[in-house]
Amino acid sequence: MKPFFITLDGIDGAGKSTNLATMRAWFEAHALPVLFTREPGGTPIGEAIRQLLLDPATEANVRTETLLMFAARQQHLDEVIRPALASGVNVVSDRFTDATFAYQGGGRCLPLADIEILEKWVQHSFQPDLTLLLDIPLAVSMQRLAQNGSQDRFEQEDRAFFERTRQIYLSRAQAYPSQYRIIDSSQPMNTVARTIQAALAHLFGQDA
Ligand code: TMP
Repeated sequence: MKPFFITLDGIDGAGKSTNLATMRAWFEAHALPVLFTREPGGTPIGEAIRQLLLDPATEANVRTETLLMFAARQQHLDEVIRPALASGVNVVSDRFTDATFAYQGGGRCLPLADIEILEKWVQHSFQPDLTLLLDIPLAVSMQRLAQNGSQDRFEQEDRAFFERTRQIYLSRAQAYPSQYRIIDSSQPMNTVARTIQAALAHLFGQDA
């Protein structure tokens, strides 16, 4: 069976960690080979870039930030994602290029056309087979972030930043419905988990 590239994305506070655990359990239960990885990160260079970009003390303009996201992504694709897929292993990435469109394009207002140029340069036509978008009202996500205590460079942004970020995620998901599943992450945890299990089962042609 052809391995799949699956991404999980959404604004900070949308509940990615809990749902990654659901996904891990699903792959285990179905005995399917899988590699879980994340962006920015997933390689030694990528993790160093991550540390730099998430540090509240780092000062970077939006172009520098975007180039670093794609630098990390290039290495991630070459060193981790493509080799895993080539060896028959499914890959789940905690965030991918949608996050650049949403955060740097939406949040920081970089023209989306600039991001499309870098996307083509780094990925060519490579895209996820399935993107699970966790969507949540700002009132809920902001409350969760406030409860989490210390915040990274992105989590410190204001509500308007995350409103713009959320809108770009939603508009991309609505524009390419065959690739995306929008998941209402404000529903009870069990309901969200069942929706994710069903989406994976549909992709793999298996029972949930
Ligand atoms: P997280 O993995 O804990 O969600 O943290 C990663 C942060 O980096 C998150 O706030 C979103 C942000 N980010 C971008 O701004 N652009 C990107 O392209 C990616 C992958 C992440």
